[in-house]
Amino acid sequence: MAIHFDEKNQILTLHTKRTTYQMKIDAYGMLLHLYYGPRCEGTMDYLLTYYDRSGFSGNIYDAGNNRGYSMDSLPQEFPSCGNGDFRSAAVIIKTLDGFFNCDLRYSEHKIYKGKYGLTGLPAVYADSREADTLEIVLKDEVMKVKAVLYYGVIEEKDIITRSVKLINEGGQKIYVEKLDSACLDFLYGNYDVISFYGRHAMERNFQRMPIGHGSFSIGSRRGTSSHQYNPALILAEHETTEDFGTCYGMVYVYSGGFKAEVSLEQYDQIRMMMGFQEDMFSYPLEPGESLTAPEVVMSYSTAGLAGLSHNFHWCFRNHLCRGKYKNAVRPVLINSWEAFYFDFDGDALYELAKKAAASGIEMLVLDDGWFGQRNDDNCALGDWVVNEKKLGGTLQKLIEKIHGLGLKFGLWIEPEMISEDSELYRAHPDWALRIPGKKPVRGRNQLVLDFSRKEIVDYIYEKICGVLDQGQVEYLKWDMNRSITDVYSHGPKEQGRVLHDYVLGVYDLLERLIGRYPDMLIEGCSGGGGRFDAGMLYYTPQIWCSDNTDAVDRIRIQYGTSFVYPISAVGSHVSIVPNHQTGRSVSLETRAAVAMAGTFGYELDLNKITEDEARKLRNQIRDYHRFAPLIQNGLYYRLTNPYDRAVGAWSFVSEDGSEVMMEAVALETHGNMNVNYIRLKGLDENSVYEDMQSGRRYSGAALMHAGLVLPVKMEEYPSYIYYFRRVGA
Ligand code: GLA
Repeated sequence: MAIHFDEKNQILTLHTKRTTYQMKIDAYGMLLHLYYGPRCEGTMDYLLTYYDRSGFSGNIYDAGNNRGYSMDSLPQEFPSCGNGDFRSAAVIIKTLDGFFNCDLRYSEHKIYKGKYGLTGLPAVYADSREADTLEIVLKDEVMKVKAVLYYGVIEEKDIITRSVKLINEGGQKIYVEKLDSACLDFLYGNYDVISFYGRHAMERNFQRMPIGHGSFSIGSRRGTSSHQYNPALILAEHETTEDFGTCYGMVYVYSGGFKAEVSLEQYDQIRMMMGFQEDMFSYPLEPGESLTAPEVVMSYSTAGLAGLSHNFHWCFRNHLCRGKYKNAVRPVLINSWEAFYFDFDGDALYELAKKAAASGIEMLVLDDGWFGQRNDDNCALGDWVVNEKKLGGTLQKLIEKIHGLGLKFGLWIEPEMISEDSELYRAHPDWALRIPGKKPVRGRNQLVLDFSRKEIVDYIYEKICGVLDQGQVEYLKWDMNRSITDVYSHGPKEQGRVLHDYVLGVYDLLERLIGRYPDMLIEGCSGGGGRFDAGMLYYTPQIWCSDNTDAVDRIRIQYGTSFVYPISAVGSHVSIVPNHQTGRSVSLETRAAVAMAGTFGYELDLNKITEDEARKLRNQIRDYHRFAPLIQNGLYYRLTNPYDRAVGAWSFVSEDGSEVMMEAVALETHGNMNVNYIRLKGLDENSVYEDMQSGRRYSGAALMHAGLVLPVKMEEYPSYIYYFRRVGA
């Protein structure tokens, strides 16, 4: 069992293979955090200090005259507000009497085999051989609120998950004004905070900066996890690099708004927290009702940022993604969006599919424009009725024709939206989120359906099934193309709960679709990577990484994404040049090399490529098939940081170290060019590796320490792909 209770010292310890996490229930029933870091035996309550900080750090009443006891300086597991701690609280509750003070004290705990689950929410899953659970119950006896803290421990890969459930056990309604799923207090340390910021078509840029006094926070007020900040944070010691040093990560398993914060406090202590976005959040709980916070997945690594990424990749691939495709190589697809946008008919699709089949592509995805009167992006969202006139026949007929070519068939849908110019809106204007008497804010000229109302989710479910049942649809691209504003539900509910209930509605619909179509692959999307989060990965094992298909920009976008999310999750396509988002032209080889670092596909009009390009394309698909299992399941290494080196490089290494695929793209071109050298990672130093193209042999040590030479090529953004196999010791 990975979880121990030391009754004498009232200490709870979670052990993973390489880490230890420890807490103490103190004499007043306060749950204090003691330690999270490399595995340690014994108790660490000697770290707690009690100095009189004068009257400005309050003392709880039970401490009597002991002015040295203050929640303001003690490290805590689940800090609340009003008990003398003036740092950010993990929970703020307001009573009908109008007070906020919440005093949560230990009541009981239980330890059991297996991993807890969260009803209606995505969560890491693991069976009783793989994981253990600790539940700690805290209570406020005046407010009559119970908080159940959940800890899931996956020992083997140093994963600890957290969540919390608040239960109103009193006789009056309360309002949850803030709820974090996890809080980590550090008594000291010199850390940098790493976060991933961005915008539409340029998501998850890498930022690393030292923590200063005050607080650093990221979040989303958009109702989705957002392009702007990914719901993940890493704390790394100043000296930590890709390969060495210590770092902590927190990832939110949630697709709605969030807030994550790191603060450096008065005594140089650090608090790191993650949870619901507080703005526009005021969740009512009637007597007996409860609210469960989404899960946070934490990990700690002494093997640098690569070690931390490997833990998260493994956890998300094996214990979060589900379904038939979780570990399977995904079909190479062609998507109609950048090929045709809205301008297609059944014949054009069939011609595209014919060319695709001849190249070895395995699936045609019919993107936006197949339903209602949808010939541009101003109308018809909500009208999930096939436009048979445009397709030149029924959907069933089209699917049969595509299948007849030996291709699978996929469809795009945007279930959460409603256009004002739609049959649905004309029939149900109150189904959109909008405030009575106010003109709503439009985004892409569309409004958002009120998914916090079950009857609306039910209706959309029926409509989608009505389409999907017309033929064998093997793939669904689930899009969501605006941020949420005008948060007002016309259903009978308080508005402070709408944003969270909306996300629960999205999860409910996804769960129902997965149940009904277990073999269908769903790819998440939100204007590209606007909802690229661990919550979606529970339902959609791959997510369209960005609307930006420019290979050079993608190197940075995919670099940032790789810190937390596995390669198997990264939707990545080859598109036409000049690129539609940047106007840049790079070679077909480079576009394919970058797209191969993800779930590979194409998004261009195959009628517009030359014979020579068509030949190259066939070879790319053949190569991809050869490498796909290694790409998808190998250990991913970032070999350079494309922000400060003139080359982007990464590799996939099989878990036993016997196979390596390395890819690189030179990002700068100059006269009399410098040579780029790349050091490989994760090989066996004492083994001999053969370059399968040239037959040249290298020792593992040479590849890792002396490195590999990337020959200078007379072109912009040249790419390099090497494949090595271990041939002996
Ligand atoms: C979003 C997606 C694109 C495409 C369009 C269709 O922008 O990210 O890939 O599906 O919608 O409208």
